[in-house]
Amino acid sequence: MLDSLGISSSTVLWATLASLALLKLWRTLSNWEFARKNGCGGARKMPSYVFGFDTLWNFIKATNNHNAIGLVEDWQRQFGQTFQFRLGRKLVYTCEPKNFQAILATKFQDFDLAGRNLAASPLLGEGIFTSDGKVWEHSRALLRPNFVRNQIADIDVYEHHVSQLIKRIPRDGSTVDMQELFYMMTIDSATEFLFGRSFNTLGGRESEASKSFAKNWDIAGNGMLIRMRLGPFRGLSNLNPIYTKASTEVRKFVKELVREALEHRELQASNPDEKASSQSYVFLHELATRTQDEKVLTDQLLNILVAGRDTTAAFLSILFFLLSRRKDVWSKLRAEVLKVDKRPSFEDLKSMKYLTWVMNETLRLYPLIPLNIRTANKNTTLPTGGGSDGTLPIFIPKGREVMFCSYNAHRLPEVYGEDASEFRPERWADLKPGWAYIPFNGGPRICIGQQFALTEASYTIVRILQDFESLESRDSEPFKELVGLTLSMKNGAKVALTPVQT
Ligand code: HEM
Repeated sequence: MLDSLGISSSTVLWATLASLALLKLWRTLSNWEFARKNGCGGARKMPSYVFGFDTLWNFIKATNNHNAIGLVEDWQRQFGQTFQFRLGRKLVYTCEPKNFQAILATKFQDFDLAGRNLAASPLLGEGIFTSDGKVWEHSRALLRPNFVRNQIADIDVYEHHVSQLIKRIPRDGSTVDMQELFYMMTIDSATEFLFGRSFNTLGGRESEASKSFAKNWDIAGNGMLIRMRLGPFRGLSNLNPIYTKASTEVRKFVKELVREALEHRELQASNPDEKASSQSYVFLHELATRTQDEKVLTDQLLNILVAGRDTTAAFLSILFFLLSRRKDVWSKLRAEVLKVDKRPSFEDLKSMKYLTWVMNETLRLYPLIPLNIRTANKNTTLPTGGGSDGTLPIFIPKGREVMFCSYNAHRLPEVYGEDASEFRPERWADLKPGWAYIPFNGGPRICIGQQFALTEASYTIVRILQDFESLESRDSEPFKELVGLTLSMKNGAKVALTPVQT
């Protein structure tokens, strides 16, 4: 056809290349004009080779050696609080509180999760944790009523699981890994809260179905993590069918629970007496009053499970790891705990000042999502990090990923002082760190489970401190990170507790 028009294929090739070059030139010029108009300066560049695959390789190696955060700290020491770098693609790194505020709040509309949604969709579908724009807005509105205060303030829901946990703590001074127990407790409480049926791992009455769910959940979660790390190369993870199989099994399990809940709902509608007899709050049942779409319910439940279960377990584990090395903090906290009732109320927990400081300080030193990423969905700017002294705004072109690091921001000496890397709960007496403290992020996408997590954690801490008078570390190693979807500890929290003598 082209030949008949007298146009050779090499002419077409050259014309295409020329158009692409022009398009690139036009983009560069309009980006440059956008940056100029907004008073931007360039951010420092971290040198790398072969499109940053050397840096990507170092990052993967550091993650496997439990030192990814250490590597990022090192980058920051060399290149400052905001810099550009490559990991097989271009990114911007920042730990500037002003930039956090822009990404999460003032310029919220300019940033998406993008890669996370694609990496997570085989397991989590499309829910609050894995969507953007209108779909996310709809999810947030759908789920908000499930997190209202009277549900969170119902302390009784935690007591059963905490007492099961306390029963598993040795009373003869032998070593126990609290991290292991906290992960068991949160899967038990999360499955009861979400599905209305606890896995009962602490009670040792776990069914074969829930054991197999837990196994598939771990495999599928690893697959998701690998896809997240691979970024645009996430398709490579399909080479291992084990992840796809595990994700399918997990979804099948939850879908079955959703079907049962919908049947239960129909039964209730036709039998009001049945309704009166089932009192306890179940997230799924409550959500099913607002939508009966099986896929929506399955996706949202999985999204909440992924966001809520490991975070609370890791938080408690790290807190006990820190307490086991600080007898002074343990004693002060225990003195406060002993002032409240054996079954503390929501109000009791909220009024405990030192407990709040200890929790704040733990989340400051070890934020559970230490590194996070957003992708610009349009040309935009961040307020600081550009120019020779790093104070000018920086240009973020559409499609650029921004890695923001709460871990490093939480240790900025200009906010927290020269002892920023020390565990000192007392600093919270008069500290107002603003956007330099984002353990739950901030802005419209702030953690929806924050109050739930803090209430469950406070209740658990208080109950353990009531029953045990001392805590001792049984591990001389320093904190060793394990960065998965959330931060946890490679070596667990190995401690020994002494029960109160009765
Ligand atoms: C100490 C415990 C917790 C910490 C530190 C924590 C932290 C966070 C952070 C940093 C985010 C923002 C992630 C992002 O946007 O990239 C987040 C989001 C979220 N969290 Fe939590 N979380 C905790 C516990 C929980 C619990 C217990 C639940 C549910 C029961 C939960 C549910 C969620 C959900 C659904 C989102 C997504 C919100 C949205 O995108 O609109 N979290 N959490």
